[in-house]
Amino acid sequence: MARTPLVAGNWKMYKTEAQAEEFIQALLPRVSSLDGADLAICVPFTDLRAMVDSSRGSPVEVFAQNMHYEPEGPFTGEISAPMLGELDVRGVVLGHSERRQLFGETDKALALKVPAALDAGLVPILCVGETEEERDGEETERKLRHQINEDLAGVPAARLAEVVVAYEPIWAIGTGRVAEGEQAQEAIAFIRALVSGRDEAAGESLRILYGGSVKPDNAAELLALPDVDGALVGGASLDPASFAEIAAAASR
Ligand code: 13P
Repeated sequence: MARTPLVAGNWKMYKTEAQAEEFIQALLPRVSSLDGADLAICVPFTDLRAMVDSSRGSPVEVFAQNMHYEPEGPFTGEISAPMLGELDVRGVVLGHSERRQLFGETDKALALKVPAALDAGLVPILCVGETEEERDGEETERKLRHQINEDLAGVPAARLAEVVVAYEPIWAIGTGRVAEGEQAQEAIAFIRALVSGRDEAAGESLRILYGGSVKPDNAAELLALPDVDGALVGGASLDPASFAEIAAAASR
């Protein structure tokens, strides 16, 4: 079954609203004829409304980078799924390794966040991946199995295919050390098999992205791998020209 590739830019904590506006005006003409691929930017909360307004009617979808699992409550500094939904935000990145490592994001919270996003009509991009130490210790599969099993535990089989998973080996994030094609393919095929173990059809249709030092010069090779359904792009998504080049590689 054909899966439409998704190229998503994760801006992390970059770009004020004015900078985001400048970016989108430079990006839109470059992606207007994009065909056969979905395109998203995952932006800071303060950029959401402006990016949703500026990208209306274009191929660019706007995602947030985190959310709380409760719809509302006494959680100072947090943002809920219905708050994102009302802004016409299309989805949300969940469980990025920076949130797991620097802000104490747990699998337990993710098990609640992923279904909460789906219930609010948001597409969750669930990030998983191993550290360098875990790869060296041949613990990659154990780590991925643990994260996939725990984080998707609350998603009913019938809705599994609506989730997007991003395989982001932590040692490849922001390091310029992209995973070899074989490593990316192997890990992503493993993730797909885990999902298929719960629901065969969901495993077939769920999209799994690769993330970690994706650049215009390595995107085509990664995107051509049989189980890789797109990319989650950090640094190279901050520049409209390089992000558009990566998007073009996915639409070919
Ligand atoms: P880089 O593309 O900068 O390595 O970041 C990857 C990432 O963390 C995307 O979520």
